[in-house]
Amino acid sequence: MKLVSPSILSADFTRLGEQLKSLVSAGMEYVHVDVMDGHFVPNITIGPMVCDAVKRAVPEAKMDVHLMIENPGAYIDAFAKTNPDIIYVHVEAACHLDRLVDQIHQKGIQAGVVLNPASPLSLLEEILSEVDAVLIMSVNPGFGGQSFIPYCLEKIRRLDELRRGGELSFIIAVDGGITQENISEIAEAGANLIVAGSAVFRGDPGMNFRKLTEILNRMR
Ligand code: DX5
Ligand code: ZN
Repeated sequence: MKLVSPSILSADFTRLGEQLKSLVSAGMEYVHVDVMDGHFVPNITIGPMVCDAVKRAVPEAKMDVHLMIENPGAYIDAFAKTNPDIIYVHVEAACHLDRLVDQIHQKGIQAGVVLNPASPLSLLEEILSEVDAVLIMSVNPGFGGQSFIPYCLEKIRRLDELRRGGELSFIIAVDGGITQENISEIAEAGANLIVAGSAVFRGDPGMNFRKLTEILNRMR
């Protein structure tokens, strides 16, 4: 699978439902929601209420919720109630990652783990067989519209090698700084789910989404 997951962080929140519906018409299968608490990252965004609204606006799309918050374990129940398909938690925010992954699975939700750009893959080595997705941050989390950090490309390739070597099937997701210019090399490096905020919502979301998807389809 090679899909684009639009991040609503760059959406027009006065027209969120409308923009999401136009993306579903353009073929969107996943929608990415960025939850920030002003502690783990220097920005505050949205919580369970907006996740719930997103899921109700486009129930046909899978929702992946990216928790950039301290003490994520205390909020899994609240986000689980909004019916996400994947919940991502940062390795850097979790003292007990195994317990957290378990907590997400117990809710019947796919568990994703996230690494900041400078965090090594080795932090995940022991738990790779237990997770459904690994999200590689390719910018420092907190804001949309930043540039892709070049060394993350090699990290995606090494994660893909680990996946092949271990005969594992977790999704490799990449988040931050994706553009029409770099999406193909990121997908070629092994990414399956490519999160894009400004590259989708700056301008006409439906048209941008189609263009990014077309580039991915051309690679197949
Ligand atoms: C950054 C968020 C991203 C963000 C990406 O902390 O996790 O999902 O929306 O935005 P772009 O695609 O504009 O880099
Ligand atoms: Zn994100």
